[in-house]
Amino acid sequence: MAFELPALPYDYEALAPFMSKETLEYHHDKHHKAYVDNGNKLAAEAGLADLSVEEVVKKSFGTNQGLFNNAAQHYNHVHFWKWMKKDGGGNKLPGKLQAAIDSDLGGYDKFKADFIAAGTTQFGSGWAWLSVKDGKLAISKTPNGENPLVHGASPILGVDVWEHSYYIDYRNARPKYLEAFVDSLINWDYVLEMYEAAST
Ligand SMILES: [Fe+2]
Repeated sequence: MAFELPALPYDYEALAPFMSKETLEYHHDKHHKAYVDNGNKLAAEAGLADLSVEEVVKKSFGTNQGLFNNAAQHYNHVHFWKWMKKDGGGNKLPGKLQAAIDSDLGGYDKFKADFIAAGTTQFGSGWAWLSVKDGKLAISKTPNGENPLVHGASPILGVDVWEHSYYIDYRNARPKYLEAFVDSLINWDYVLEMYEAAST
């Protein structure tokens, strides 16, 4: 099925001052739109236009780099917008998620430190992730558009560490952006929704 650019689930000012209107306009309207447009063109050329985005991501990994880059970035950004909300973040998690973070990742503080470290140490463009793999939570990082789907895991939270996600608001201070994402932006309800879908 054709990829479509989803509308943001909030208005362009909603995430300020942690993520500005200007960042969202460029990031959603231009960068994400380009992944959608290029992904549709390349999926059609590859004869894969009827597949879901998840299937295109898995099929193109390691076989069609151009299509993979765009399809994976489309998948990543569809969720990235929903992984944030106004007045989000912080350590008040839904109970089920808190219990899993306690048992699998050593508690919220350790999760926060390890997730931020993953994003900070991803050299160049990429993502930091919280995923479910073999029934357990795991933190990882990937370069460019790569994501946990191609490593046998189900992503439930990801943060974009491409410069287009933070340079307008934070310049080169990637750790400051990651801290703001965790403390003030994460939509834990959507993380829980993906956790429950991945755990069934
Ligand atoms: Fe991005």
